[in-house]
Amino acid sequence: MNGKRILLVIGGGIAAYKSCELIRLIRKAGGDVTCVLTRSGAEFVTPMTLAALSEAEVYTSLWDLKNETEMGHIQLSREADLIVVCPATADLMAKMAAGIADDLATTLLLATDTQVMAVPAMNVRMWEHEATKRNVAQLRTDGVIVLNPDEGAMACGEYGEGRLPEPEAVFAEIEDRLSGASPEHSQPLLGKRVVITAGPTHEPIDPVRYIANRSSGRQGFAIAGALARLGAAVSLISGPVSLETPRGVKRVDVETALEMEAAVNKALPADVAILVAAVADWRAEASPRKIKKGETGGPPELNLTENPDILAGLAAHDQRPGLLIGFAAETDKVVGHAKAKLDRKGCDWIIANDVSGDVMGGTNNSVHVITAQGVESWEQLPKREVARRLAERIAETLA
Ligand code: C5P
Repeated sequence: MNGKRILLVIGGGIAAYKSCELIRLIRKAGGDVTCVLTRSGAEFVTPMTLAALSEAEVYTSLWDLKNETEMGHIQLSREADLIVVCPATADLMAKMAAGIADDLATTLLLATDTQVMAVPAMNVRMWEHEATKRNVAQLRTDGVIVLNPDEGAMACGEYGEGRLPEPEAVFAEIEDRLSGASPEHSQPLLGKRVVITAGPTHEPIDPVRYIANRSSGRQGFAIAGALARLGAAVSLISGPVSLETPRGVKRVDVETALEMEAAVNKALPADVAILVAAVADWRAEASPRKIKKGETGGPPELNLTENPDILAGLAAHDQRPGLLIGFAAETDKVVGHAKAKLDRKGCDWIIANDVSGDVMGGTNNSVHVITAQGVESWEQLPKREVARRLAERIAETLA
């Protein structure tokens, strides 16, 4: 984020305190922050706090901009690489959608030609109100990036959608925009449905033991997040993992391969399916009670049954997604094995990763994209970047 300039507009909501942490994260990453505090925002955080964290002057009213020629509101907004409204209250978004300019924040939001990102935070009823829905839709049509709020317990004691996402998540969205990721307002995957499987499956042996493959779920979760950012409606069918659900993604948790298969079929029809999960190949006949060591006079017989191949099943499904993508984790002859898998499973692409290194559970991945047209080998990249490129590749293919 080196040298990038963020103009941070802070609206009046209890979540305003989270913008303090956001400033810290941006500063730590080498970005500059200029804060504009609305009158109601100042009821929740003080200009002094913001000035100390941003190490810059904080603007609260049109009349702060004493020298209109040097530091007018137009210049203030146009100097920024990105304008972030956080928290974006229902009131502030209503004004933005209507083009009202009655204070410094709304005036510069109307005067700017810089990309604006709004991070809503409000009570669940307010978020679900038809008026707010209309305003959010209008803002998105106008090219404003409106993030979806998180679901959870609220300061007002209610539960639901409307919480401000955690500062780390907002920071990641800002980074994405500034790194030249495709601008969200173009949302090339809007209206497309995507199903993704991720993580391992657990096949119980008894109530305390199970068979599983090694998989952190990170790559699949990153892909789900990247596709959601491009506007896709993403259903993420996840095995047992300890990961946060990416923003804007609908997650279904499952445990076994059979449950995963049922959840995938339930999520159909879909335009794209990406099966990243490391599904266990076999399941055991599970004992309803814990098998005691020694009771079987040696190791117990597991009596294994082959699990359904979800990917091959989708390839033959009468609702086969138009673009079907499988993954292949290989330790040797990576491309050769993956090519064979493409034919055997009947999918359109195979993303082959070499797992002989530290890919499992690690943050980097080195993949080969295998299609009927040939093989493309990508350099080693963070899983997040692999996800971003893959999402863009999918968007191009569907276009
Ligand atoms: O056969 P293999 O497990 O190597 O194939 C990997 C690909 O097939 C991955 O995309 C994985 O998600 C998918 N798969 C599946 N159901 C299985 C086994 C693998 O969907 N039972």
